Order: sequence, then structure tokens, then C-alpha cells
Amino acid sequence: MNVALVTGGSAGLGRALVTALADRGWTVITDARDGSRLPQSPNVIAITGDITDGVHRRALLEQVKLADRLDLLVHNASALGPRSGDTRYRALAETTPEDFQDVWRPNIGAPLVLTSLLLPWLVESRGILLSISSDAAVDHYEGFGLYGASKAALDHITLTFGAENPTISAYAVDPGDMRTEMHQEWFPGEDISDRPLPETVVPHLLALINARPANGRFRAADINLVQEVA
Ligand SMILES: NC(=O)c1ccc[n+]([C@@H]2O[C@H](COP(=O)([O-])OP(=O)(O)OC[C@H]3O[C@@H](n4cnc5c(N)ncnc54)[C@H](OP(=O)(O)O)[C@@H]3O)[C@@H](O)[C@H]2O)c1
Repeated sequence: MNVALVTGGSAGLGRALVTALADRGWTVITDARDGSRLPQSPNVIAITGDITDGVHRRALLEQVKLADRLDLLVHNASALGPRSGDTRYRALAETTPEDFQDVWRPNIGAPLVLTSLLLPWLVESRGILLSISSDAAVDHYEGFGLYGASKAALDHITLTFGAENPTISAYAVDPGDMRTEMHQEWFPGEDISDRPLPETVVPHLLALINARPANGRFRAADINLVQEVA
């Protein structure tokens, strides 16, 4: 039995990945702040909570302890950043220390602490640490400086965990544009119906999990689908 923990499994890419893993027989622990939207499946252990909350992270740890293994940890839940009004994301020069906290805590603080908490199980299972990154980690978009910096930092800690723990595999993956709630938040009021659905990214993530190449940062679209899990 394979066991995964995927943060942010109620919508978008997280939900698509949780569903695909559960359909393949994995036991998947997942969470979201609004638990009513989490998927219902015998293979899914849904825990309501916020990854920035230490009590909630302990609840996730308890589920891993009960399963007594962890083959895959996916940092997927994420925050975009500070907005002024309904449409405009604030430039770096307009951001406050509170904005920094609001982005940094879910995007880098929680993944760092959660990985540290769960590392013994990941090491024991010779598991995979997978962080969902963004093109904003390497490109520079007006209004998304904090988000981009947090994703660059997420890439960095993910690959450093890999360097420090040679029995695990560590990957940061830029999924590319996807038609999700977060993408709509990035482009408020715009028609995003031409963006691919998050389900189209999942086969690339499964291929990565199956192929287990050397640690590194990938664009999902560049991961060869030949290796997809059966
Ligand atoms: N969509 C894109 O075009 C795009 C492009 C590049 C990178 N990405 C990255 O891809 C990943 C998935 O994005 P998405 O577009 O699928 O997002 P999404 O549709 O907005 O879904 C986000 C999921 O995370 C949960 N979540 C958010 N904050 C949370 C928190 N603090 N604690 C627990 N759960 C939380 C949400 O549920 P609740 O709100 O109920 O908590 C939801 O289940 C993110 O890391 C994002 O940065 C997305």
C-alpha cells in the first residue's frame, strides 16, 4: 500500500492529484480549510484545516503515524498574495510585513515545518517530496513578487531536503497555467477557459513519481508521459 499526503486537495490540481492517486489504490491524506469540498473516497483521509496552523499539522502527522508510512508528500496548497481592491495585486514596494507573513507562512513556512515533521516516515519509505512551484519562481510578474519569491524559496528548500536526505527523491514542479480558482484569482474577470484543466497536469506528475529521475526542478509539460503509472 502506498501512502501520500497532498495539501490542498479540495480543488484544482490538488483535488485532481488526490483523485488520481486514490483511483490507483493509494491511501491519500489531504486537507483544505473548507472541509466540505474535500473528496469523499474510501482511499482518501480528509482532514479539515489550515496548513499554517500547527495544531492542524499535528493532526496530519497523527494520520501518517496511523498509516505508519509515507511514500509521497506533496506541497500543493498555496497563497497568491496581497491585493488592493478587486483586481490589482500590489507591487513589492507597497507590501507590508503582514503581507509577507500571509504569503510566506502557507507557501514556505508550512511546507518547511511539515516536511521536517514527516521526514522520518519519508526517509523510511525512501519516499518522494514533491513541491508544486510556478513559473513565477523564475520569471518576474508585476504584483506577484512575494508569491514568486516564496515559490523560489520553496524550490530551494525542497531540493535542499533532497540534498540532505539522499534516500528520498525531491522535486519542484512548475505545473504551468491551469484553469483553476487560483488562476482566476490571478486574472480577475478574465475568460480563462482556454487554459488546460489541472487533470491534464496529473499524468506528468504520475510519470515523475514513477520514473524517479535525479532530484531537480521540472516543468510538468517536459516530463515524459511514457513513464506514467499504470
Ligand atoms: N493555477 C495555475 O495556473 C497555477 C500556475 C502555476 C502554479 N500553480 C500552483 O499550483 C498549485 C495548485 O494551485 P491551484 O490553481 O490548483 O489552486 P486552487 O484551485 O486555488 O486550489 C487550492 C487548494 O489548496 C487549498 N488551500 C489553500 N490554502 C490552504 C491552506 N492554507 N491550508 C490548507 N489548504 C489550503 C484550497 O482549499 P481551501 O481554500 O478550502 O483551503 C484548495 O483545495 C499551487 O501551489 C499554485 O501555486 C498554479
